[in-house]
Order: sequence, then C-alpha cells, then structure tokens
Amino acid sequence: MSAGLSDNTAFVAWRVRQQEHVEQALSNWVLADAPAGLGLVMRYAVLDGGKRLRPLLALAACEAVQGDPAVAMRAACAVELIHAYSLVHDDMPCMDNDVLRRGKPTVHVKYGEAQALLAGDALQALAFELLVPDDGSVPAALSARLCRQLAVAAGASGMAGGQAVDLASVGVALDQKALEGMHRLKTGALLQASVMMGASTAALDAAVLRQLSTYGACIGLAFQVVDDILDVTTDSATLGKTAGKDAAADKPTFVSLMGLESAQAYADEVLDQAHQALSASALPHTDTLHALADWVGRRAS
Ligand code: IPE
Ligand code: IPE
Ligand code: MG
Ligand code: MG
Ligand code: MG
Repeated sequence: MSAGLSDNTAFVAWRVRQQEHVEQALSNWVLADAPAGLGLVMRYAVLDGGKRLRPLLALAACEAVQGDPAVAMRAACAVELIHAYSLVHDDMPCMDNDVLRRGKPTVHVKYGEAQALLAGDALQALAFELLVPDDGSVPAALSARLCRQLAVAAGASGMAGGQAVDLASVGVALDQKALEGMHRLKTGALLQASVMMGASTAALDAAVLRQLSTYGACIGLAFQVVDDILDVTTDSATLGKTAGKDAAADKPTFVSLMGLESAQAYADEVLDQAHQALSASALPHTDTLHALADWVGRRAS
C-alpha cells in the first residue's frame, strides 16, 4: 500500500472501504433464492456483521504482492464463508451453545438447529464454488491451488480438527504447547490461509512465501489469544457475543493458563514476530499487513 498507512487514519479509511466492498461482494454471491428459506438463513449468517478480518488479510496480502485483486476478492469471500459457517456450527447447542453472535440471535436460535446445520453446509460448499467460477476468470491451476489451501485450512488438520480438540479439552488444563497447538488449528489455520490465498494471486519465490506464512501463523495465534482475553475483559454488548463463556464452560484458554497480563504480553510478542517476518520478506507494499497486525493486537471486539 501507499505510504501513510502507518498513520492510523489512513488504515481506518482503507479498512472501512474494503469492508464495504466485501459486504457488497458477499451480498451478490450469497443469494436469497435457495429452497425452503435456506438462502435467507445463509444471508443472515453472513451479512451485516463481523470485522471481516480474514477478507482484509487476503486483500492486503494481494496488495503486498501486487496480485490480481478480482481473484483476491473471491479468495477473501471464500474464507469469510468458511468462517461464517464455522461460527454457525460453533454456536450450536452441541458445541458452545451460544445465543448471541455479531449482536444478533445465533442462527439456530432464530431458524432452528436443522436450518443452522444446513446453512453451514451450504456456505462451506459455496466457498469452494466461488474459487472455481465458470466464466474462466480464474486460471484452472490457480483455482486448484486456492481450493487446496482453503480445504486444508478448514478441514481435519485445520479448523475442524482444532474445534475437535477444543471440545475434547473441556475441564482439561492444557499446557502452553497443547493450547498453542489448538489455537493454531481452530483459528490460526484459516487466518494464515487468508494471507496465503491472497499471496497466491501473484507468482512469488519460496523465501517470500515462507515469511508470509510465518506472518499469517503469528497473526492467527495472536488473534485467538486476544479472543481469549476479550472473553474476560469485555462486555457482551461490545463483543456482540456472550462474554465470559470460556470460564463458564471450563475451556482452557491463554487467560486461564497464564493470567490476563501475561496473555497480553504473549500476544504482543507473537505479533512482534509477525512484523519481523513481514519486514524480512522485503516486499515493498506491506504497510497494510503491518497495520492489520497492530489491529489484531488492540481490537476492542
Ligand atoms: C470469532 O472470530 C471466532 C474466532 C475464531 C475467535 P472473529 O472475532 O473474527 O468474528 P467476527 O467475524 O468478527 O464476527
Ligand atoms: C471459535 O472459537 C473458533 C471457530 C469458530 C473455528 P471460540 O468458540 O472461542 O469463538 P467465539 O468466542 O465463540 O467467537
Ligand atoms: Mg468454540
Ligand atoms: Mg464459541
Ligand atoms: Mg472465544
């Protein structure tokens, strides 16, 4: 990005503009006309809410590598659809049993469990459909690469696997290594994939990809550590989801492991590593990615 993004005002302007573009693209792609009201449930789950961090990472990574912005918008929205589906399922009674999400009743509370389950299924499928448009606008090899990156991040060795560890860890005092492993999977994998999919829109050498991958992994881990902190420090109205759920559900978190202050210091340390990896990439247009790392550390919700 251009000079000046270290200036917070310029970053906020960029973020708001891109959030609007993402909202519009998602609204165009998630149609209301699926049978038996399913389209409305999908739109409820995806639109009007959320920080859109994953799309912003994909778009900023594309900007950093001077890639194809139209492909990056598809990648950005595909990751957000997987994320939205993961939230719908995460909130269901069989998982975290939450009633509030993005300031609204959760999907199963509003539409029932069966529709919530199906909306999640359909959003996951739609994510991959977006990466393989039938108008030839994404070269076949790039489509395949993006699908693979997203599938690996969403599946058993990524988000879904991490969610399984999360549920199996209720009442268990995980040590730091195990907790970090869980966070890297359940949240980190998708955030890292956002960066790497955005970067896939240009041809890059392996050394640069390695630094971006480290940046993405650090952002992903720090993001979930901050999520653990916010669960304790912030009220439900600000979060748009029920605060205090982790302790109530006896989930191991970075706060339960090391306390608030050390958890924040740990997040800051991991975010420093993200900045360092980005600087080491020697890419010329990384201001936005740096600013996003700062945002992850100091976000209010
Ligand atoms: C919440 O993610 C779930 C986690 C992975 C911690 P976000 O905090 O990105 O949620 P939205 O998309 O902004 O609602
Ligand atoms: C959710 O983690 C991670 C995924 C949805 C994959 P949490 O359960 O901590 O997320 P919140 O706090 O409900 O948003
Ligand atoms: Mg959960
Ligand atoms: Mg949850
Ligand atoms: Mg949480």
